[in-house]
Amino acid sequence: MTGTIIPPTRDVLVDCVRTATAAPSLHNSQPWQFRIRGSRIEVYADPARRLRVLDPDGREQLISLGAALFTLRLAIRRSGHRSDYEVFPDADRPDLVARIRATCPSPVLPAVEALAAAIPHRHTNRWPFARTAVPAAVLDHLRHAAGREGALLASTGPAGRDALLRLARHADQQIQKQPGYREECAHWSGSSSRPDGVPPWAIGPPDAYEMLPIRDFIESAATRPRPSDRFEPNPSVLVLATQNDRRVDWVRAGQALQRVLLTATWHGLATMPISQPIELPSVRRLLIEPTSGLSAQMLLRVGYGRTIGRTPRRPLAEVLLPTGRRTQNYR
Ligand SMILES: Cc1cc2nc3c(=O)[nH]c(=O)nc-3n(C[C@H](O)[C@H](O)[C@H](O)COP(=O)(O)O)c2cc1C
Repeated sequence: MTGTIIPPTRDVLVDCVRTATAAPSLHNSQPWQFRIRGSRIEVYADPARRLRVLDPDGREQLISLGAALFTLRLAIRRSGHRSDYEVFPDADRPDLVARIRATCPSPVLPAVEALAAAIPHRHTNRWPFARTAVPAAVLDHLRHAAGREGALLASTGPAGRDALLRLARHADQQIQKQPGYREECAHWSGSSSRPDGVPPWAIGPPDAYEMLPIRDFIESAATRPRPSDRFEPNPSVLVLATQNDRRVDWVRAGQALQRVLLTATWHGLATMPISQPIELPSVRRLLIEPTSGLSAQMLLRVGYGRTIGRTPRRPLAEVLLPTGRRTQNYR
C-alpha cells in the first residue's frame, strides 16, 4: 500500500548505525555521535574529536560526518526501507548535522546491495598501486557517483595531475611546519591498542619518486625513518569539488566522497584520500580554475592495489547516545 509508514525496528536502526561507523574520517578520528528516536536517527558532530590544528574550521570533520551520513542512508536502504533526511535541521544546534528518517518498506535493488556490500571492504590504501591505468568507463562511473550527491569529480591529464601533485607536496611540507601539527598527528597515529586513530600497520611508506604526498603519520621513534617504496609513476588523481563552500557543502562533499569510494571499491579499486592541499588555504585556491566558481574539497588517488586490513572503530556504546540525553552513552 503506498504511503504506509512501517518503520524498521530499533535493532535494525542500531545495526545501521554500526554500519555507518565504517565510514572514513580524518585520521580515523570518528568524530560522530548518533541518537535513535523512534524511526529517526540524529547524527551529531562530536566537538571533542575535531582536529584543531589541521581542521580549524571543522571542514574535514563535516566531510567525515557526510561520509557517515551517506553510509547510514545506504544501510537503511539495504535494510529494505526508504529514508528522507535533512542536513542541519535545527539552526540552534549546529552540532546536529543531520536527521534521517526511515520510512516505508521498499524492495532492495541490486545496485543498492552491490554498493552496500562494498562498505566493509573499503579501506584507505597508502601503498604503491599497480601500473595499470583505471579504465575511462570506470572513471565515468565514479564521476557519476559524485554527481548523484551533488558534487563534481574531475580527472586530469598527466600535466594537470603532475601540477596538482606538486601543489600537494608543497602543502604537505608547509603543514608539517605548523605549530602543533606534529603533536596532533602523533596523538592520532601509531597506536595498535586504541579503537581510533591510524594504527602503525596502516601507515604507508614514503614515495621513493617523491611524487605522492603519502601522509607522514607518526609511528614510535623506534621504527622511524621508514624506508621508501616506489609508487606507481602515473597515478590516477581525481579532484572532488562542490559548487559552494558552506557547512552544508562540506557534508555534501562527504556524502559524495563516500559514494565515490564505495563505487570504486565495488570496481575493485584501491583508494587514498589526499587532503593536505585542501588544508592549506593558499594551495587550495590554486587547485581549481577560479572562474569555475567551484571549491575543491578533496583529492583522491585510485588504482589497483593489494588488500589492506580494517582500521579499528570505537564500540557502539561510545557513539550511540541514549534517547533524550546528550551526555551519557547508550549500551
Ligand atoms: C576528510 C578526510 C581527509 C583524509 N585525508 C587523508 C590524507 O590526507 N591522507 C591519507 O592517507 N588518508 C586520509 N584520509 C583517510 C583517513 O585517514 C581514513 O579514512 C581513516 O584513517 C580510517 O581508515 P579507513 O579509511 O581505512 O577506514 C582522510 C579521510 C577523510 C574523511
